[in-house]
Amino acid sequence: MRMVDLIEKKRDGYALTKEEIQFIIQGYTNGAIPDYQMSAFAMAVFFQGMNDEETAEFTMAMVHSGETIDLSKIDGIKVDKHSTGGVGDTTTLVLGPLVASVGVPVAKMSGRGLGHTGGTIDKLESVPGFHVEISNEEFIELVNKNKLAVVGQSGNLTPADKKLYALRDVTATVNSIPLIASSIMSKKIAAGADAIVLDVKTGAGAFMKELDDAKALAKAMVEIGNRVGRQTMAIISDMSQPLGYAIGNALEVKEAIDTLKGEGPKDLQELCLVLGSHMVYLAKKASSLEEARHMLERAIEDGSALEAFKRFLAAQGGDASVVDDPSKLPQANYVIELEAKEDGYVAEIVADEIGTAAMLLGAGRATKESTIDLAVGLVLRKKVGDAVKKGESLVTIYSNREQIDDVKQKLYENIRLSSERVQAPTLIYDKIS
Ligand code: URA
Ligand code: CA
Repeated sequence: MRMVDLIEKKRDGYALTKEEIQFIIQGYTNGAIPDYQMSAFAMAVFFQGMNDEETAEFTMAMVHSGETIDLSKIDGIKVDKHSTGGVGDTTTLVLGPLVASVGVPVAKMSGRGLGHTGGTIDKLESVPGFHVEISNEEFIELVNKNKLAVVGQSGNLTPADKKLYALRDVTATVNSIPLIASSIMSKKIAAGADAIVLDVKTGAGAFMKELDDAKALAKAMVEIGNRVGRQTMAIISDMSQPLGYAIGNALEVKEAIDTLKGEGPKDLQELCLVLGSHMVYLAKKASSLEEARHMLERAIEDGSALEAFKRFLAAQGGDASVVDDPSKLPQANYVIELEAKEDGYVAEIVADEIGTAAMLLGAGRATKESTIDLAVGLVLRKKVGDAVKKGESLVTIYSNREQIDDVKQKLYENIRLSSERVQAPTLIYDKIS
């Protein structure tokens, strides 16, 4: 087999066989196929696409390009959740303890990553003492005991994806549904999930800004999962404005605690109940989505979800008393209100720009080397559709610098008020199974 022939075949719109796809991924991973040929191939896929079978084979070839995690020593069906990313998305912090409290094992491998705030691990590290440096054996033991543990990414998972994603980034080939779908799914499958719940976001703060693109991506990922024997379902949810109120690391931990008590923002709570019901259902702990939802609602009401969070934090060295006393979380030196300049209705809170404002405060990393400030961030006091009076607070800004004119300006520019009544956006657009 020669790579040049396979590039030509894809360029001319033909489907590749399983063997051809394996040849490409193996060759690219071990260096036999150079970047310039892989770039041409990625561009051919960008224009010609891949059918469902090719996409599934491409995914599995990437899964097998490196190590895979074996979670077979954990009892029960391991369900993972993946979000395509957004602003102030606190769902993972809530969902872990919430579904664990009804007996679903959550073996979470998580990252720090770049973005408006830190990743799940950064957020959790705002709990004093909490750490993710645990051995594989300890990780599995903790999941069996508490149904929940979080470990940092380690090992050589999906090296083909790592290399290809970096290449796509500089060859204008990121935006291809089969390439995105296989990239995301290969990582989830390599991390050992038996079943996968996807939260595909759409809107200004999302990777897929348009609803139709988000749906197409969700369908492609669900198709891959189901073809390779990992039951997969997807939700398409709104990310035109940030999710919940809090955007920032310790602030989101506080928001997760509130939500586990049933006192969190309504949109965050609803999305967690919907995603969580799918997780419980796929884990076969309930025979219908309705039953699953009732179980989760009960776990919030009777305090077992909150207890699961405390147990999890303590098991990984964290000070679980933050749950009852969140003032023990890192606190910012300055708390500043952003006051509305006029009466009206909130018409728009541009998610990605608000995320950038949080990053200006130091809540996220601009580059891999940046350090993040766990205490800082934003708490929205109004969401789209809310009425507001001149002088009322739109946002509470938690800062460790006194001068924040840049942040205030960014916020004013991206929170648009209207004199007319505005409808709150739909939270969940679609479900795909
Ligand atoms: N996220 C991924 O992990 N891969 C892609 O290709 C795009 C987004
Ligand atoms: Ca939030």
